Amino acid sequence: MAADRTDLCRLSYICGVLAVCFAGFCWCQEVKTVSVFENADVGTAVVNIPLLFSITVRVPTENLKAELPCSVLDGDRYGRFAVNENCTLVVNNPLDYSVQSEYVLKVLISGRVHREVKVRLQVHDVVGYPPVYNITCETPTVKQNGERGTFLFQAGLQVEGVTSDGDVLSAKVRFPKPNWDPGDPLPSDHPQLIVNTDNGDCTVDLFWAVYQAIDEAIVDKLWLTKVHSITCFSGPASDRNSSVFMINLIDKEANYDPRLSYVRENVPDSWMESDFQKYIVYSSLTTMSGDQRRFVCQLPETMPSIKIRQSLMTVDIVAINYVWAEIKPVGCPRGRYGWACQNICICRNGAYCHAFNGACKCQQGWTGVACDIPKDTVSVVATPSDPRDLYISGNVTLRCEVYDVDVVTTSWIFPDGSAKTTTGADGTEITISDIKTTDNGPYICQVNDSRGDVFKTDVVLNVDSCPPDRTGQHCEDVCGCRHGASCDRWAGCVCPAGWTGRRCQTACPQGTYGYGCRETCECENGACLPSDGVCNCTEGWFGQDCSKPCLPGRYGWSCHQICTCKNNATCHHVDGTCKCTPPWTGPTCKVLEGNQSNDPPLTYFIYVVLIFVVTFCLILLAVLYRKRRVTCRAVDDKRETRLLLELELQRLEEDVTESLQPGWLKRWERKPNCLSPGIMIGMGMFGYVRRSQLRTPEGEVTVAAKSVRTEDAQCYRDFCRETAILVTVHEDKDHKASESNIIQLLGLITQSPEKFILLEFAPGGDLLNLLLSHEYQAFKECAQLVTVVIRLLRYAEHVSCALKELQRLRIAHRDVAARNVLITRGDVAKLADFGSARDVYTTTQYVPADAQSNVPVPLKWMALESLESRKYTCQSDVWSFGVFLWEIATLGDEPHYDGRLHLTCPELVVLLRQGVRLDIPRECPTDLYGIMTSCWAADPSARPSPETLIERIDKVRMDSCLLVEFETSV
Ligand SMILES: *[C@@H]1O[C@H](CO)[C@@H](O)[C@H](O)[C@H]1NC(C)=O
Ligand SMILES: *[C@@H]1O[C@H](CO)[C@@H](O)[C@H](O)[C@H]1NC(C)=O
Ligand SMILES: *[C@@H]1O[C@H](CO)[C@@H](O)[C@H](O)[C@H]1NC(C)=O
Repeated sequence: MAADRTDLCRLSYICGVLAVCFAGFCWCQEVKTVSVFENADVGTAVVNIPLLFSITVRVPTENLKAELPCSVLDGDRYGRFAVNENCTLVVNNPLDYSVQSEYVLKVLISGRVHREVKVRLQVHDVVGYPPVYNITCETPTVKQNGERGTFLFQAGLQVEGVTSDGDVLSAKVRFPKPNWDPGDPLPSDHPQLIVNTDNGDCTVDLFWAVYQAIDEAIVDKLWLTKVHSITCFSGPASDRNSSVFMINLIDKEANYDPRLSYVRENVPDSWMESDFQKYIVYSSLTTMSGDQRRFVCQLPETMPSIKIRQSLMTVDIVAINYVWAEIKPVGCPRGRYGWACQNICICRNGAYCHAFNGACKCQQGWTGVACDIPKDTVSVVATPSDPRDLYISGNVTLRCEVYDVDVVTTSWIFPDGSAKTTTGADGTEITISDIKTTDNGPYICQVNDSRGDVFKTDVVLNVDSCPPDRTGQHCEDVCGCRHGASCDRWAGCVCPAGWTGRRCQTACPQGTYGYGCRETCECENGACLPSDGVCNCTEGWFGQDCSKPCLPGRYGWSCHQICTCKNNATCHHVDGTCKCTPPWTGPTCKVLEGNQSNDPPLTYFIYVVLIFVVTFCLILLAVLYRKRRVTCRAVDDKRETRLLLELELQRLEEDVTESLQPGWLKRWERKPNCLSPGIMIGMGMFGYVRRSQLRTPEGEVTVAAKSVRTEDAQCYRDFCRETAILVTVHEDKDHKASESNIIQLLGLITQSPEKFILLEFAPGGDLLNLLLSHEYQAFKECAQLVTVVIRLLRYAEHVSCALKELQRLRIAHRDVAARNVLITRGDVAKLADFGSARDVYTTTQYVPADAQSNVPVPLKWMALESLESRKYTCQSDVWSFGVFLWEIATLGDEPHYDGRLHLTCPELVVLLRQGVRLDIPRECPTDLYGIMTSCWAADPSARPSPETLIERIDKVRMDSCLLVEFETSV
């Protein structure tokens, strides 16, 4: 009989179909086998079915569009495959050889007559697939606060070298966030870097094609001096076998190099064929946990001296004191993985997704590479699916899903033993709202089918954490953690390294650092940074632990200063004072006070960073940055017009654009070669700030050179705004730079590819940092707090003077906050950052205003009307000034309304409209709080003028002086 059918089938091919088919169904079936790799992407076409069986199908036309010509009838329980309108079988969900290695699909081909065919799909095993979920390098999930993207690793790097003339050059780089959105694909202009984190064994492989001429020259030199690899260690010197990584230089032409084959497997062919680069840097590192580790790199004895040509001068680095790199895997935002968190996870049903390779760790009851295949015929799906999203007082829904079972009854059995039974497949969902710890336990779903079989599955609820930012047995307290600390139900704030205190508000005491301030600092002659114990050498010292005094003939900070002592006098390495040999006297040991040595102390702008070629991987991220930075706008002679146009486009600052006199840009332009950039003192999205020397006709002055990433539209706008405002202020005939409380502008460099705003250097740093320093935080919980605050009010007076001046010029600052107030020479506070250079010192204070505009704004400092309509006036600056006073009175607390640190713009507007304001700080004199609240009047015209502010603050200071005197005399 079977033979007959087959014959009939053959016949049907030859003669037509009617003879062998009844009621539209053809009963001859033929099986064809095709194969597919288990790692085939979703959407991959496997085979065209009619073609496979040599059948002609009419592709649906207009009138037939409701019906697909082909459909899968059977053999694909979990929907791994689908057929499209062309009858092509495509992969519809991820395959997994270990779960199912063969599918026999029964496919119905509709047409004038229907035919059923069978396709046997063999899934091929692929080595290394599915990816392995390795717990060893599990990372936490990064909270994405609408900020820009993030790297899987946090990395930092420091290098110090000595030049042939004794100058000490150091470079310290911390790699900030990538400045592309996590939703975007990676910028395409990075063909020179490949980072593999998908090895399943916690290794990170890094390959970098050395392109730039200067880098290549250095690599060439290293290669020729037989420096082919550099080894870096972490941990104590006694235990140097573990935690090592090597940086390998690989010469593509050195065919004998055994490492070459590994590199070849991992890089694109174009790298190997390219004529533009000869070297590849390859490095591999195994990470173990989320802890930060510092690697100290051992430099080879044969290290050659490195010459770096920088515009007019050549610098010869004769010795590298140390190189170290720091690395910490920090994780990706939820649902992303890869070194730049650029890939989207496929994990389903609450599976954890590994940040390294996207491997899924399935929740109970699920299997498959994407955890989307039920392990049993009954499984439970929880919403939210990720246990990390569950907390006390939250809600969870459990749904019992049934596959291929003829359900008669469904029952839920609760942790307390009670049960709820329903007939049919309805009512299979239960919701537990306002979760309490007593709700924890197993929830069993039991299904009885028509044949009397019983299927059971369970899910265990184990909710033990508080809602975000809540702590305590009953989650009754707000954590309010500072400095990125996480909030734990039992432990409260879990402080990051370098911070301590209940809310992690206090920096580690001097001499200690790390988690819980448990580590003792090993630096000599200088303070160590509390976060990581890095030595921050004071003047006259250098070296990894700051134990080396400057070489003879040099002194000062980083040995940048050249001694001026004459006649064999010795010069003190800290301050350069001369110890004369008789009979010479005088400050420089010259009998005759002749002409001063007019050698300017040389500070070089050096990319010692370039030695990074030989250091660690994440350097390479810097390359990404540099790459993005060099695509600057071409300099044209219509720049002035263009800057103005930019301001006009923003429809802002009419007063500024009107008051700028033609030629303003030229009047402030300085020559790039007059600037000798020095150490980096701030870094952010906008670029960075370096303490630098500017040569002027009057002599050399120290400036803060703020570089601007002009290729980023927002940075460019901020740059335009800041330059235009500062020039307006400084060109105003009544402005006296020496007396003003607005940061002094010393020049602009806009005609070189790298653009700078040159500002007065503020040795005291910004006020927020000062408030958060140990010096002040020590007073936080003690009785003298009020005295300290009153003393700090002098800065508030200075800032109100700046506001007064801005009001006269009708300019709104828009971001009056402690972080934007700098403490300059003579302990004078000055208002800075007119461009809203949003992240010079911090990023956490700024949040994107809304979904449409990605421009971050300082919500919690903004006046009600600015929040509602983005309108900024001198009165809205007064509101921010009130918040600024609050920051002073709380010694730098982050403002929080109604006990909440994180508020969206609409939430904040509602609160403020209800009359909610910042609470009175502890120990704050009521008349000071009175000033603050007057600044926060909803009606802008009801807020005090800067003059009134000056008077009222002065009064608070005077009154309290009397009070203090009175108290002491009693
Ligand atoms: C089906 O085939 C037509 C014509 O060959 C093609 O234009 C169309 O894109 C195909 N559709 C799919 C989903 O592959
Ligand atoms: C996880 O990574 C560690 C560290 O490299 C490795 O020793 C271990 O074999 C890995 N585990 C699995 C399951 O691959
Ligand atoms: C939980 O559900 C209740 C309604 O059942 C709702 O009012 C409440 O807002 C929900 N809570 C959360 C945290 O979603």
